[in-house]
Amino acid sequence: MTIPVKIAGIGFYVPETVITNDDLTKIIDTSDEWIRTRTGIERRHVLSGNESTVDMGIKSAQRAIEKAKINIEDIDLIIAAASVEAHAYPSTACEIQAAIGAKNAACFDITAACSGLIYSMGIARAFIKSESAKTVLVVATDAVSRCLDWTDRTTCVLFGDGSGAMVLTVSDDNQDDILSIDLKAEGQYGNFIKMPITGKNCPLVEPNDEEKMYVKMDGKEVYKYVVTNLPNYIEECVAKSGLKMNEIDYLVPHQANMRIIEALEKRLEFNPDHVISNIQEYANTSAASIPIALVEAIESGKIKLPCSAILTGFGAGMTVGTTVVRLREGIA
Ligand SMILES: CC(C)(COP(=O)(O)OP(=O)(O)OC[C@H]1O[C@@H](n2cnc3c(N)ncnc32)[C@H](O)[C@@H]1OP(=O)(O)O)[C@@H](O)C(=O)NCCC(=O)NCCS
Repeated sequence: MTIPVKIAGIGFYVPETVITNDDLTKIIDTSDEWIRTRTGIERRHVLSGNESTVDMGIKSAQRAIEKAKINIEDIDLIIAAASVEAHAYPSTACEIQAAIGAKNAACFDITAACSGLIYSMGIARAFIKSESAKTVLVVATDAVSRCLDWTDRTTCVLFGDGSGAMVLTVSDDNQDDILSIDLKAEGQYGNFIKMPITGKNCPLVEPNDEEKMYVKMDGKEVYKYVVTNLPNYIEECVAKSGLKMNEIDYLVPHQANMRIIEALEKRLEFNPDHVISNIQEYANTSAASIPIALVEAIESGKIKLPCSAILTGFGAGMTVGTTVVRLREGIA
C-alpha cells in the first residue's frame, strides 16, 4: 500500500499596492476597455520598495502552516516555485526556511513558471510516497512585475505579483487527497514565453550578446497552444483519477486570461458557477495564481469544503501541470 498524502493547509498573500488598468494608461498607450475585453483583468497587485518574493512567500507559508496545524520543526522539505527570485542563491526556499524557523527542512527551488505549484505538488507527493519526507511545505511565489518591460503594452498589462503556499503531509486517516497528477513539458515551444538572464563573458574571450531581463511573449501562440492542448491534458489526468469529469466539483485553472478560462469551461462542459476565477483583481500571478484563486474562493464560500477539484496550470517551457484533488474542511 502506498503512503496516502494529505493536503493539510493552504494560504496566500498579495502585496497591498494596486495598479488599475486606468493607472497603466499614464505610462503606455492602452485602455481599460482593451485590457478588460481581451483578458478580463481590471487590477493587479505589485511589489513596492524593497518587498520581495521571499517576503510574500513567508506570509503565505505562515498562513498555510497555521491552517495545517503542524509544528514548524516537522517540516522536512521546503520547495519554492519562483521564477523571479530575490537572489539566485541562497534559494528562495532557504530564505523562507530561515525566516519561519523550519530548521529540520531540506530546501530547494524549482522553475516551471506558471505550472510551478503543480510541479512542486508532484515532487512533494513523490517525496512523501517514497518515505523521503513526511511533511513538505510548497511555496509558489512570484514577482513578475520586477521583470516586465513597462514600455511594452503587449506584456506589461498581463501580470501581477503574489504568493501561495500549501502544506502536504502523511494522511492520518488513509485518504489520499491527490487522486492523480500529471506533469508535462514541451521544450520545443520554449520561444513562446522567455525571460533571459544573461551575464557577461570573461573579458579575455569574445563578448556575448547581452539581453535585457524582461518577459518576452508571443501571446497568440501561447493562446493557441493552451486552448488546443490543455483540455486534452486535463481529460487524461481526470481519467487517471478514477472520477468522471461530471463528478468533480470545481475547476481551478491558472489565471492567465479570462478567454482561456471560458474556452476550457466550454470544452470540458463545466458548470460556469464551479469554475474559479479572480483574474480581474490579481492578473496573472504566475505560479501563485492557482493557490490564490483556490483560497480566495474557499474564504468567500464559492468553493464549499469538502469537495473535489481540478487544479491546472500552464506556462513558460511550455509546461503544463494538472492534478485532481480532494480538499478537506479547514484547509484554508
Ligand atoms: C496577449 C493577448 C491578450 C493579446 O490578445 P490578442 O487578441 O491576441 O491581441 P493581438 O496581440 O492580436 O493585438 C491586437 C492589437 O492590439 C494591440 N495591443 C496589444 N496590447 C495592447 C494593449 N495593452 N493595449 C492596447 N492595444 C494593445 C496590438 O498592438 C495589436 O494592434 P495592431 O492590430 O494594430 O497590430 C492574448 O494573445 C493572450 O492572452 N494570450 C495568452 C497569453 C498568456 O496566457 N500568457 C501567460 C501564459 S502563463
